[in-house]
Amino acid sequence: MLLSIAVIIAAAVWSAASEQEDALADLSHEQALLATAVAIDFEARLASHHGAAARDESTILDEVLLELLAGARRLEEQGELLVMVARPGQRGFLTTDRRVIPSARIRSALDGSDASVVIPREEAPSLGLPRRTAVAGVARVASRGPQPWGIVVVTSAERLRDRQRQDTWRLGFTVVIATAVVGGLGGIARRRMRSALDLERAIAISTVLREREAALAKADKMATLAALSTGIAHELGTPLSVIVGRVEQVLGRMTEDERSSSALRIVLEQVERIRRIVRGCLALARGDAPHLVPTPPEAVARRAADLVRHRFDKAEVELVPRIDADLANVACDPSLLEQAIVNVLLNACHATPAGGHVSLDVHASDGRIFFVVDDDGVGIPDAVAERASEPFFSTKREEGGTGLGLTIAREIVKHHRGELTVARRTDGPGTRAVIAVGT
Ligand SMILES: Nc1ncnc2c1ncn2[C@@H]1O[C@H](COP(=O)(O)OP(=O)(O)O)[C@@H](O)[C@H]1O
Ligand SMILES: [Mg+2]
Repeated sequence: MLLSIAVIIAAAVWSAASEQEDALADLSHEQALLATAVAIDFEARLASHHGAAARDESTILDEVLLELLAGARRLEEQGELLVMVARPGQRGFLTTDRRVIPSARIRSALDGSDASVVIPREEAPSLGLPRRTAVAGVARVASRGPQPWGIVVVTSAERLRDRQRQDTWRLGFTVVIATAVVGGLGGIARRRMRSALDLERAIAISTVLREREAALAKADKMATLAALSTGIAHELGTPLSVIVGRVEQVLGRMTEDERSSSALRIVLEQVERIRRIVRGCLALARGDAPHLVPTPPEAVARRAADLVRHRFDKAEVELVPRIDADLANVACDPSLLEQAIVNVLLNACHATPAGGHVSLDVHASDGRIFFVVDDDGVGIPDAVAERASEPFFSTKREEGGTGLGLTIAREIVKHHRGELTVARRTDGPGTRAVIAVGT
């Protein structure tokens, strides 16, 4: 701000200085013209005087000389103007009130070929002028001798002084206005900046608070979920043992009905699956170290697809597995990883209208195995995708959504030190869910 004011002042000073220079030049020119006019008049009078009495120029009396300057005296009456004459070779200048003024400055201007000369303010009083810069116009009139007559018209630079005063005022005024404008604008800018900063700070604080609240709420929900699932898993243990016991009893007695006994064996298999999942969930909730076994990704993907097959058939959505050959084994708890893929596939099926497709693509990249589920469903808004794996977050409450499918899938994938992402597809409508786990 100070810099801008300084620049404005410098510009104003510079402009005032150059205006004064111009004014001085104008005045010098005017004085030179006046001196020339006086000189012409003087020359004419001198010629007629010579005609009347042809005497030596150096003997012309002062009175006579002053008479010769009669025309110029009229000029003097007009204002602060001083007319002087110098005899050829004479150093001093004779004023119309008969003073003789020795001015070296004017003399050297006359001896040179200058038409005017500026007289500094300290020299002005020696000419009987006010203490102010003056300007002298000089003109030469030929004499009979080698040296010319000198005619000098001096004036005090009064107009110049007025102009200087005006300039001083103008400069002061400029500085005041500039300071006010720059100061005012600077103040406004500072206030704006301060309020913008305050706002930014307030937003940052509220964002941090909101994030912390959200994180706490999430942690709270996860803790509730862990407690709940541990409880459920524990409670499930007893009825499952009862089911297994009873089914085994019936199976032992059944000998000839092959269809019924195979159906019962399927019940046992599924119960065993439930137990494994329950055990896995318990381990997960307790935060146990993962027990991962090398498993072919193809087997995991196929089992997951088989588990959801009937749901896809019912919804008339085609499930298309595309599994690369010769994939390295994936380090996983197979039942849990299958469950994670199942949850993702069920969401895809749910989002896709009848006649649509869902693909399950399995491939390896950068030493990891990717299970990619693409659907041609309704798609997922970014805001929903961001929150999709939060516990109990669901946009399908009316249709029985629990908001736990992706939460569990994410926990399982985390347990495998892998990653789960759900986002809108970039290659068309629909959603892409990706589970990436290490080999
Ligand atoms: N394939 C998908 N297409 C569209 N939205 C999806 C998809 N998968 C998940 N979502 C969104 O994520 C939310 C959470 O999913 P999830 O945790 O499985 O809970 P739920 O399926 O019980 O609603 C869903 O309610 C849905 O809004
Ligand atoms: Mg779901």
